[in-house]
Amino acid sequence: MNLLGNTTLRKNAIWTYLCHRALSSISSTTALNIALITGSTRKVGPPNPIIGPRVASFITKKLEERGNKVTIIDPNEFTLLEQPEFSYRRSDVPKKLQDFKNILMEADAYVCVTPEYNHAPSPGLVNVLNHFGSSVFSFKPSAIVSYSAGQWGGTRAAIALRPILSELGALPVSAMINIPNAQDVFDEDGNAINDPESWNSYSGRCFSQLEWWANAASAHKSVKDPFAESKPLQSSPSQRNAPGKT
Ligand SMILES: Cc1cc2nc3c(=O)[nH]c(=O)nc-3n(C[C@H](O)[C@H](O)[C@H](O)COP(=O)(O)O)c2cc1C
Repeated sequence: MNLLGNTTLRKNAIWTYLCHRALSSISSTTALNIALITGSTRKVGPPNPIIGPRVASFITKKLEERGNKVTIIDPNEFTLLEQPEFSYRRSDVPKKLQDFKNILMEADAYVCVTPEYNHAPSPGLVNVLNHFGSSVFSFKPSAIVSYSAGQWGGTRAAIALRPILSELGALPVSAMINIPNAQDVFDEDGNAINDPESWNSYSGRCFSQLEWWANAASAHKSVKDPFAESKPLQSSPSQRNAPGKT
């Protein structure tokens, strides 16, 4: 059967094509608000150099070149967790914590940049994440960038970070950016020393996934409130409605 021989089907096909084109052009040009959470809290070496600022600078530049707005959240601005934001009475939330929450709430997507410390993600970065509840992050995508001075590029830290972001509902995209021997990859201004084109396309693959998902999530929020059925947990994980709870 020739499907396009049917006038109604032909009109539907044209309409679908036009909608698809319109949506593709929106999603490729929408500037995203990206909260970039860094991991390095070190101030003094050895080991030298302290690589975190170089990687953060490279990632920021690449995201901005793609038209995104980046706000950096530095773990040095946080004390070790004493009281998460969600456990304060609303009127008592410290202003600094509220300001960070606002940045995270307004973000369309997250990028976490972590060094590998003892095969784990930076405790400073995890400490930042632990200050906020999943309702701040959820229904938005995230990307993981890991680096190390060694040959594995912090992949063990990156893999360990995935379930943490998943638990918060900031779903990690599949492409990660793992940077081995990072001290030799970027100069102090965050420029790739050798083969900048390869670093551009490698990071671009991950960012393109992040942008695709962020645009898709953002567009669908106007169709359906993501929290309508999956309510944010207000007081305890028991609010997950698991069968058999007492
Ligand atoms: C406490 C600590 C633990 C480390 N553990 C690892 C590790 O497990 N794997 C690795 O490849 N490098 C490890 N390193 C080396 C780091 O990759 C290197 O020092 C890097 O510069 C850390 O990032 P930063 O400079 O931004 O803090 C470790 C460094 C420190 C300070």
